[in-house]
Amino acid sequence: MTELVQWLDDGSPHSARFNDRYRSRTGGLAQALTVFVNACGLPPRWRVRHEFTVLETGFGLGLNFLATWAAWEADAQRCERLNFVSVEAYPVAAGDIVRNVLAPGVPGDAEAQLQARLPALAQELARAWLGLRLGVQQFEFAEGRVRLTLAVGDVQPMLNLIDCAADAVYLDGFSPALNPDMWSFATLQAMANHCRAGTTLASYTVALGVRESLQQLGFSVRKRAGLPPKRHRLEAVL
Ligand SMILES: C[S@@+](CC[C@H](N)C(=O)[O-])C[C@H]1O[C@@H](n2cnc3c(N)ncnc32)[C@H](O)[C@@H]1O
Repeated sequence: MTELVQWLDDGSPHSARFNDRYRSRTGGLAQALTVFVNACGLPPRWRVRHEFTVLETGFGLGLNFLATWAAWEADAQRCERLNFVSVEAYPVAAGDIVRNVLAPGVPGDAEAQLQARLPALAQELARAWLGLRLGVQQFEFAEGRVRLTLAVGDVQPMLNLIDCAADAVYLDGFSPALNPDMWSFATLQAMANHCRAGTTLASYTVALGVRESLQQLGFSVRKRAGLPPKRHRLEAVL
């Protein structure tokens, strides 16, 4: 069940199934931090909590998970436990997860420390990954303080299956035009069932249909300037 990742000449990982890149050509970590981690109000929001839960659609190469884990690890005021719950229908090989964080990025000063930690964290994830199977499974890292729940299967049934109270949501399917199932109203509704008042949500897409669906589901949505080369990103709160 290993999904083939095509490594393009520019070093970026590409999906033949969806004809889209897993991440932007450069600055993968910077994008993950800006578009997802910081956009959901992290690290500050987890500082006032004992336990904090992130729900993601599209685990892919695990970069958002690794970026969140690295940011949590580097934060002296981090919460006691970080739960990261993600859904993925087409898991990649462990080697691609490791290769992705070795690819050259353009970290700024603030990110250099996190960038330096990614290969070691990716190796830990890759070791756990070897036992991956279909369905819902949990992996523990950082002496049990970081818990990854991975639901391997199609997004909508998996969202309906998992038990999760999300404090933050990362929506990271491929482009809505190329990967409509990840952004359908039914999928977003299944995601929203795990949210509560105050849950923050972030995405790189500002597609009108996605914004309208989120608004219908009770999210207050804002279109924000993206980190170049991306023009926009989306922030929302329930
Ligand atoms: C842009 S990539 C995710 C990148 C990832 N968040 C990261 O940090 O590396 C989108 C992911 O969504 C997954 N995906 C696409 N359609 C899906 C579906 N119907 N159900 C579950 N996962 C799906 C793809 O296999 C791909 O791994």
